[in-house]
Amino acid sequence: MFPPFDVAGYYNVCNLHHRVKAPLELVVDNFCEIEHTPTTHAFFGYPLERMHEVEVEFEPTDTSVRVINKGPRKNFSTVLRWMLGIGADWQFIDDWTTHFSPVYSIYDHWWQCPTTGKESMVRWRLFIFFIPVDDAETMLFTFAYTKSRYPGPAGGMRLFRWLMRKKLDYEIRLDVRILEGLADQSTDIEGMKLSRFDRVLALNRERIERIYRGVEQKSSPQRHKEHQDSTEKDRGRNVRARSPLTLSLLPFSVRPRHSLCLCGEAFLT
Ligand SMILES: [Fe+2]
Repeated sequence: MFPPFDVAGYYNVCNLHHRVKAPLELVVDNFCEIEHTPTTHAFFGYPLERMHEVEVEFEPTDTSVRVINKGPRKNFSTVLRWMLGIGADWQFIDDWTTHFSPVYSIYDHWWQCPTTGKESMVRWRLFIFFIPVDDAETMLFTFAYTKSRYPGPAGGMRLFRWLMRKKLDYEIRLDVRILEGLADQSTDIEGMKLSRFDRVLALNRERIERIYRGVEQKSSPQRHKEHQDSTEKDRGRNVRARSPLTLSLLPFSVRPRHSLCLCGEAFLT
């Protein structure tokens, strides 16, 4: 069933669709992890050298996964920053929730003063639907909205509609290019070493299997115990180092080493 959109006070700047030659799971991984943003995206995300300052929170429910990231903003032109009403030391907030029947994420993006809590003049709300065409291709449908505190119809956003569409289309095409360029399009994540941001991958995978695909799964405690046992057995063996996305995108060489259970728990290894 197509979900209702909560867009009171928002303006629909554009709707886009893209076809990606990659499996559903990898596409959802890409759109639910932020560690590729320093090197891939111009506008959204966080600077590479300050990724360690980014705070991440996970709020999973039985049917959804919410992720909230907060950290130093990226550098972009002073004119654009002035237009959006963003202070020099403000933080970028990336708050999204993924649902699984159908599979879609709702993203809220805005900037905020870390001391006063004052927000940017404009904020974004994106609804992105992930529809598998087959095992190797996925369609993306994006519905983009803005909320502006500037006076006038749609907070002046009608004037910039063309620009927002162009920028958003460009940013999504960057993601498409990354996904289609992956050397390994395997969707298996069990046993991978992942970062503190990557817990969402397992939380999403479990819900895609259980809710979207309707595959019966073992209970979380049982999966967790089995995974701990297998992690013990695998310790010291050459298991896959990181997710394909992480491997292909990140120049990071030093990170906390975690192993990820399919129940979403990360283990220090
Ligand atoms: Fe991206």
